[in-house]
Amino acid sequence: MTEIKLPDTTNWGEPDWGIRVPVRDGGGIDFRDCFVGRAGQVPDEAPAHLGLAQRGSVVDPNTPPFEFPVNKKAVVWADNIADLVEQAKLGQWNAATDIPWDKLHPLPADLEQAVCQICTFMIQNEYLALYLPAKLLTRVDPRFTEVVLFLASQVEDEARHVEVFTKRALANGGGLQYVSAATEWSLKSLLTQEDFTSASFLLHILGEGTFMELLKFLEEVAPDPVTAQVFKMTRQDEGRHVGYGVSHIAYHLKHDPALVLQLTQAAEARAAFLRQAAGASPFVQQALAVLAGGGSAPEQIAHGRERVKELYKEMHATRVKRLIQVGFQRGMAERISNLHGGAVPNFM
Ligand SMILES: [Fe+2]
Ligand SMILES: [Fe+2]
Repeated sequence: MTEIKLPDTTNWGEPDWGIRVPVRDGGGIDFRDCFVGRAGQVPDEAPAHLGLAQRGSVVDPNTPPFEFPVNKKAVVWADNIADLVEQAKLGQWNAATDIPWDKLHPLPADLEQAVCQICTFMIQNEYLALYLPAKLLTRVDPRFTEVVLFLASQVEDEARHVEVFTKRALANGGGLQYVSAATEWSLKSLLTQEDFTSASFLLHILGEGTFMELLKFLEEVAPDPVTAQVFKMTRQDEGRHVGYGVSHIAYHLKHDPALVLQLTQAAEARAAFLRQAAGASPFVQQALAVLAGGGSAPEQIAHGRERVKELYKEMHATRVKRLIQVGFQRGMAERISNLHGGAVPNFM
């Protein structure tokens, strides 16, 4: 038998040995306990030549450079990132079997049409929320393992949202409804964002933060408990996505206060684009008013429109609160929130 000749690793560094992460009581092995030894050392800037090796591995110096464009800890990290990854796995559910689809009963045609119209619109937004983090994730250096795994969980969540809204639209005598070009323009202006920080700010904080309010409202006005459950379970997932956005933008702002300017400009640029190119989808406005008013009679729609106006106010208040939580001054928070929802009623 020929001997395997190992390379001389004298100058590579010394691998860890004797690491033993504890098993938690009933909780298995948890990422929160894995910040040990070399694997636990998260670099402020990821060196290009470590390729796809796991943080803490001893890497051959002849490894080709990968040069992941997002390679700074301050840009992606969050103090609670390990918690977020573990929560993401606990929060997984199955759109095929965790919704009591067999309890769905026929609805009056106007309400079913409104639900189907909303689902059609939700799916557009969910595709954006799937594609954008999928794009961003491929740019993040694997040294930031927990961030990569969190974004992967978000992609999985959004795939489930596409599934659940599609199934709801097809399940109860209706079907997929109209798509407005205005919505597509608005979502395109997000999908074409290239900078990790601006994209994440617009998506995780302004977009999904506002979307959560919409989901809460839809749960309240849903015409039946099964449809309400669809909105409720979707919103629980969105809470984690917004949680990552808030934690990591706060972390980034703490390390780089000048970021306020970049984020404000990102919100301004998108608002300018929306004012010029997009508007609110009339189909969605109508469907929201029908659901909120409980039907399509003129007085019901009028009542529904009043409730939707209240929703916009709540969305603004929540955005401001969240921006302050991230680290913005109140005046700037008001300004950015108005940019997002002001000229064009904008959910994502
Ligand atoms: Fe979603
Ligand atoms: Fe999301």
